[in-house]
Amino acid sequence: MPAVVIVGAQWGDEGKGKATDLLGESVDYVVKPNGGNNAGHTVVIQGEKFELKLLPAGILTPGVTPVIGNGVVVDLEALTEEIEMLTARGVDTSSLRISANAHVVAPYHRTLDKVTERFLGKRAIGTTGRGIGPAYMDKVGRLGIRIQDLFDASILRQKVEGALRQKNALLVKLYNRREVDIDETTEQLLSYADMLRPMVVDTTALLNDALDRGEVVLMEGGQATFLDVDHGTYPFVTSSNPTAGGSCTGSGIGPTRVDGVIGIVKAYTTRVGAGPFPTELEDEWGEFLQRVGGEVGVNTGRPRRCGWYDALMIRYAVRVNGFTDLVLTKLDVLTGIEEVPICVAYDVDGTLHHEMPMTQTEFHHAEPVYETMPGWTEDISGCRTVEELPEAARNYVKRLEELAGCRISAIGVGPDREATIAVHDLLPGPQHSTSA
Ligand code: GDP
Ligand code: IMO
Ligand code: MG
Repeated sequence: MPAVVIVGAQWGDEGKGKATDLLGESVDYVVKPNGGNNAGHTVVIQGEKFELKLLPAGILTPGVTPVIGNGVVVDLEALTEEIEMLTARGVDTSSLRISANAHVVAPYHRTLDKVTERFLGKRAIGTTGRGIGPAYMDKVGRLGIRIQDLFDASILRQKVEGALRQKNALLVKLYNRREVDIDETTEQLLSYADMLRPMVVDTTALLNDALDRGEVVLMEGGQATFLDVDHGTYPFVTSSNPTAGGSCTGSGIGPTRVDGVIGIVKAYTTRVGAGPFPTELEDEWGEFLQRVGGEVGVNTGRPRRCGWYDALMIRYAVRVNGFTDLVLTKLDVLTGIEEVPICVAYDVDGTLHHEMPMTQTEFHHAEPVYETMPGWTEDISGCRTVEELPEAARNYVKRLEELAGCRISAIGVGPDREATIAVHDLLPGPQHSTSA
């Protein structure tokens, strides 16, 4: 039975949270495979807005078991705050499960994230400042603290000491900061052990057993393809693999069990933080998309940079993720634009490119080449079938589908769960439904 993956196709904030919520009632488990509280997934249910940073949006669907996979880095303070926020709003979080192998974002990772960004000066990445990069650096550098370490005080002390011996040298000698106390940090981390104990399990067994029983597991990726440390616009990326392959590693579900890979695509492009962005608009149209699309980062409150739809990016995302379906979001935001531009090629120093250029230097020099499609003025937020869309909107969607080389299976026409046009079934095989 199916495991299905949700992946952001651009630079994040495509509407992955809403897509997860949409599928919520047809799935049994929602697992977050990568990232940490650098994400910001918004879900609007009957006008009520929820913003999740660390927990998967599936936590909002009664009957779904939300899981934090081994590939996630967990800030325990952020975890506690989010659970408290949800509990206060009447959401039952008692079924949340966390991988014993997930890594911890320790307070010194947050400090290092901030001082490193300052140190980079003009070359700063514009991170969310949540300690994500430093936590993944320690994971790969084999200096990380895992959730399971919190259940063995002496191991934890040794690991904190090992990590801090290196960090303190960096903090004091390079960054001119105070040393971090080993005992204090160990105690601080240990204080979460009792709260965590009932939630921590072998999530790979949990998820694979569920698949064996014929249940449906949805992997809700954080971040997006162009923020992927391998496939994104390096070094202006996050430190995990948000692409489809990363969701297998980050949850312990083998690729042979994955039946659907759903790419979430915004009808235009946005980016938070630094880095190249060929179709970025620094004129009134950029301001229009920012304002009408409400493009302000959930996590850090930064305005998102906005630009037209980039078909080369999506084709590349289809390639590196092997998307089976696309969900096109925020089509309603384009209403009222007379001629809607679509970037179909890049001019790189006089050479025309129809696919993503091989090097970052070329991508930095890329000038967008546009074709335009006639726009529409009718309010589409109430449309629930493709037939109800104005012809120009239908043609725009059809053109995006052609350029992507992948079918568009749902179209978002508003933030609310209901504001969606279903085109094809997003879950493969016989539609599964829970009693939720
Ligand atoms: P995520 O990080 O991919 O989950 O996306 P975010 O939640 O950060 O950003 C997407 C924003 O767009 C949120 O405010 C959503 O409520 C909103 N949204 C999602 N789909 C649609 C849509 O089809 N139309 C409109 N107008 N807003 C949408
Ligand atoms: P969701 O899941 C948009 C960006 C940051 C920065 C870069 C590195 O909501 O789509 P990091 O703190 O991860 O080291 O920052 O990645 N970034 C996101 N941008 N949406 C996100 O998540 C993001 N997560 C990280 O702005 O440019
Ligand atoms: Mg977001």
